[in-house]
Amino acid sequence: MPREKETTVATDQEVERAAELLVEAEYAIALTGAGMSVESGIPPFRGPGGLWTKYGEPPMNGFQIFLADPKKAWEERLSRQDDELFAPLRTAKPNPGHFALSELEAMGLLHFVITQNVDDLHRQAGQVALGEIHGNFKLIRCLECGERFKWDEVILEELPPHCPRCRGLLKSDTVSFGEPIPTDVLDQCAAHASRADLVIVAGTSATVYPAAGFAIEVKEHGGKLIEVNLYESEITQLCDVSLRGGAAVVLPRLVKAAAKRRHTTLS
Ligand code: APR
Repeated sequence: MPREKETTVATDQEVERAAELLVEAEYAIALTGAGMSVESGIPPFRGPGGLWTKYGEPPMNGFQIFLADPKKAWEERLSRQDDELFAPLRTAKPNPGHFALSELEAMGLLHFVITQNVDDLHRQAGQVALGEIHGNFKLIRCLECGERFKWDEVILEELPPHCPRCRGLLKSDTVSFGEPIPTDVLDQCAAHASRADLVIVAGTSATVYPAAGFAIEVKEHGGKLIEVNLYESEITQLCDVSLRGGAAVVLPRLVKAAAKRRHTTLS
């Protein structure tokens, strides 16, 4: 992954240019990653301070390991409630970056958010049109019927737990490496990406597919990409504007510039 020493923060001209593209877009969407929630106290996976940087990437066959012994996997999952991955998830709150994206939605400038984050923070920031492509840590999903349940709706006395509706095997809704993305959310994300003419790519290394592929697909069919990232990422070279800086700082600036620009074009 390209790694550059943190350089300058996005200039006003760059933010203006991004706002111009956003206001002109017919159907803008966003693709977000772990960098969105760093300023909410949740570490990223890769790069400086990344969990995988610290502990190494988890096994790429995490899902097969789960299926091989779901009881053991559940015991392991329940024993990790307070570790470095899950503890911050429970206490984190949305930051101004999350609220900026829900504000763009309310302004009618953003039509959907594809997030790779399982932290529920976009939802807590009031984002309505949202696809959690890697699941949500607050939910449990049935591997048979696909139904999702809140943790307090599932009896965890007997492990592995089974679906209250179809008795299918239940798993945390968070998508493990090697696990197929649930078709309902995948189809939803693909549908919005196929309509999009602009993607705000915020806080992602753009190294994991199919998520990163949606932004590349929009670029390939003539759309625009606006990146918000502290550093260069795998997709920076494809972006029309790449705004350096923290998502919680840069996205509110983008909203302000877009609101001003739209106001001038409407008046
Ligand atoms: N603001 C904006 N960007 C940031 C910030 C910040 N405050 N802090 C870090 N970043 C950027 C990093 O430069 C990096 O490009 O966010 C990106 C985080 O990249 P990753 O840690 O790789 O996270 P992500 O892209 O979401 O990973 C994709 O990989 O491990 C799996 O399932 C996991 O959903 C995750 C997927």
